[in-house]
Amino acid sequence: MISTRLSRTRKPNGYSIVPELLMMCAILGSTTGCDSDDVDDIVDDIVDVVSPFDNSAMGVSYPTGFQDWTVIGMTRRPSDTQMRVVVGNTTAAEAARGGRPESWPDGSILVDIVWSEIVNPSSVDTIGPNEFTTIAVMEKGSAKWAETGGWGYGFWSASEGLAPSGKLVDPNAADDTTTCFGCHNVRVPDKDFVFTEPLVFPTDAQIASAPVANNGTVLPTGVLGWRLLGVHYRNENQEMRLILGNDIAVDAWRAGTVDPTWPDGTKLADIVFASTALATTDTPNETDMASPGDFKVLAFMERGTNFADTDDWSYVAWGLDDAGMMEKRAESVPEDATDMMTCYGCHKLTVTEKDFVFTQPGKLPGKPPPNLP
Ligand code: HEC
Ligand code: HEC
Repeated sequence: MISTRLSRTRKPNGYSIVPELLMMCAILGSTTGCDSDDVDDIVDDIVDVVSPFDNSAMGVSYPTGFQDWTVIGMTRRPSDTQMRVVVGNTTAAEAARGGRPESWPDGSILVDIVWSEIVNPSSVDTIGPNEFTTIAVMEKGSAKWAETGGWGYGFWSASEGLAPSGKLVDPNAADDTTTCFGCHNVRVPDKDFVFTEPLVFPTDAQIASAPVANNGTVLPTGVLGWRLLGVHYRNENQEMRLILGNDIAVDAWRAGTVDPTWPDGTKLADIVFASTALATTDTPNETDMASPGDFKVLAFMERGTNFADTDDWSYVAWGLDDAGMMEKRAESVPEDATDMMTCYGCHKLTVTEKDFVFTQPGKLPGKPPPNLP
């Protein structure tokens, strides 16, 4: 665990030093544990120990609060059995609105959140996130990281307790595609070193054009700014789906209070994108990646006692018509509890015991200090 000068930052509260201290004591052959002089000596020596949330070897900070950042893209890596979502800070998200920026502005931070994947036990055709494994981070600073194309790289993995990993973060390996900079440099130098094609969502005006549903459900204008709950991939048609929740939903999920029921006022948006073919045929940058294409439909659930006819949940789907306005999709109606082809029918017949919700939201690490929501 002792790194070769990967990081010079020391955590002020020192909580994370303890395991390293114990290890040092063991290495020094102490049988009785360390006395306080030993500890002082050791503390003087361990400025190089890597602690959770430390800066990466290239000087990129742990992206505190990334759990709440805006979703920019998503991919599935079938051969790695990984689901990934790319989120960005405000600077990056604004630059990505409407598509790929020619060059990302200084201060942009992109976080590639990686989960192992799992088949949804309630839907054999649906693959979603399982365990959180890593975040890979790129931060744009054209002067600071001029030697590496204007980007700094960092990598924190759950298996290393969210200490920054030195693995792969070698700024001098411009041609080595096993390193961060090397692979991004060799494969996408003409795209400002960024692979992700940002998702193109409907515009605010299009969202505002969505008609109110017969049961009174309104598509909230801020829906595209909601926080990430999950991501799903459909085997059947290779669709990628992003699931966002309003504050009531996300806060309840993080607090662990969605069992047995999600709170009234929960709103969930399942945003469906067409598939681009798996990369073996034509995905532009990578040979093993499924990534989303055009926006198709926004499927919506809202929980409230005013929807008693359908077990306290409203179901509506909106899509774009030929004129680019949001229309209600026919499949939203009628609601029939016995018909698998209707929203209510399928959700009721399959996941009543999960309060009609299929999604198993992606797990994320707590914010520093560890394990806070
Ligand atoms: C062998 C090639 C390869 C290596 C090595 C690699 N990446 Fe990537 N990276 C990709 C691909 C492909 C994507 C596209 C999205 C996805 O599937 O993750 C990506 C996406 C990203 C993103 C989201 C922005 C973007 O470019 O799309 C970040 C951030 C990122 N990588 C950081 C890193 C870091 C940090 C490392 C080193 C620890 C690293 N990458 C190593 C290929 C690579
Ligand atoms: C044949 C079954 C089926 C039908 C019909 C169906 N869904 Fe779903 N729905 C699913 C599955 C499976 C998921 C899990 C995630 C995914 O694949 O996106 C899901 C997820 C959702 C989610 C995210 C929250 C959750 O429950 O996971 C919403 C919102 C949603 N559906 C709304 C709708 C609406 C609105 C309709 C009708 C237009 C509809 N669904 C029709 C199976 C169905």
